[in-house]
Amino acid sequence: MTVAELTGIPLRHLRRGKVREVYVVDDDRLLLVATDRVSAFDVVMAEAIPHKGAVLTQITAWWLRQFESLLHHHMLSADIDQIIAMVPSLAEHRSALAGRAMLCRRTDVFPVECVVRGYLSGSAWKEYRERGTLAGEPLPQGLRESERFDPAIFSPATKAESGHDENITRSQMATTVGDAIANDLERLSRLVYERGREIAAERGIIIADTKFEFGRDRDGTITLIDEVLTPDSSRFWPADRYTPGTAQPSFDKQPLRDYLDGERRAGRWNGDAPPPALPQAVVDATSARYLDAFRRITGSTLNDALNAESTS
Ligand SMILES: Nc1ncnc2c1ncn2[C@@H]1O[C@H](COP(=O)(O)OP(=O)(O)OP(=O)(O)O)[C@@H](O)[C@H]1O
Ligand SMILES: [Mg+2]
Repeated sequence: MTVAELTGIPLRHLRRGKVREVYVVDDDRLLLVATDRVSAFDVVMAEAIPHKGAVLTQITAWWLRQFESLLHHHMLSADIDQIIAMVPSLAEHRSALAGRAMLCRRTDVFPVECVVRGYLSGSAWKEYRERGTLAGEPLPQGLRESERFDPAIFSPATKAESGHDENITRSQMATTVGDAIANDLERLSRLVYERGREIAAERGIIIADTKFEFGRDRDGTITLIDEVLTPDSSRFWPADRYTPGTAQPSFDKQPLRDYLDGERRAGRWNGDAPPPALPQAVVDATSARYLDAFRRITGSTLNDALNAESTS
């Protein structure tokens, strides 16, 4: 879906992320809409990836249902019929929003990204390789790339408005949100990650790392918000191909990354926007990967999940 197809949504547009559009319903509620945009190496591609937005929204919805008894979360509904029943002015936009929209409790967002790392990868591996530290704090010597951490490491980051989020220490986080909140956010992040890691392991998936966001709702309750354990907020690895000591293939974006790497190596792309046009085969392969991620995590196809909702 292109952005153009979302025009005319009769709600105040609050922000545009690389992938999602956020609308204000009223003082207490937001509508989060995941588009089919895809980014790689921090650049948004021109092409849409069919079904990607619905996959992201419905994976979040599925996880939040698993975590219902663990903590308070922001989801009111990710079912388009229920959403329209609660916000009737969206009826005309049913087909543009179906599957990809989530009606949420609006919160005051804590300005930290709560990153949990179960494996040494990405920017953490880069810092460790160069300096032996993570967010400036020393890690044991001799760790290999993609090595598992037990327990997982909580490594908060700033929420940068643009550019890269920056890793911060636990004490920098406490300075930002206060000691008590920092403790709560760490405890809840670990709780959700550990539960998610167990559930994913039963399905042959490693959640290498992930990022959570929290806010405070009207009653003051700390609430899990935003997207949760999606391919866009997490690194998922196929467990049967896990080999520490090297980088692991990405579950979802690997065909896209491989193509872009090839274009870079051939000198046809410098890594900045605008990105090269994607061949249809790359778009199709990436879409298939997202649909497969949904099926592997939740155990049903996206289609079945969406149809089951509308008949329940
Ligand atoms: N319940 C909520 N209450 C208030 N804000 C929320 C809630 N849930 C999510 N948000 C906010 O909605 C915004 C989603 O936009 P964001 O810019 O992250 O989109 P995105 O497409 O994920 O972009 P990016 O890839 O750049 O992160 C975030 O700023 C997040 O903090
Ligand atoms: Mg985001």
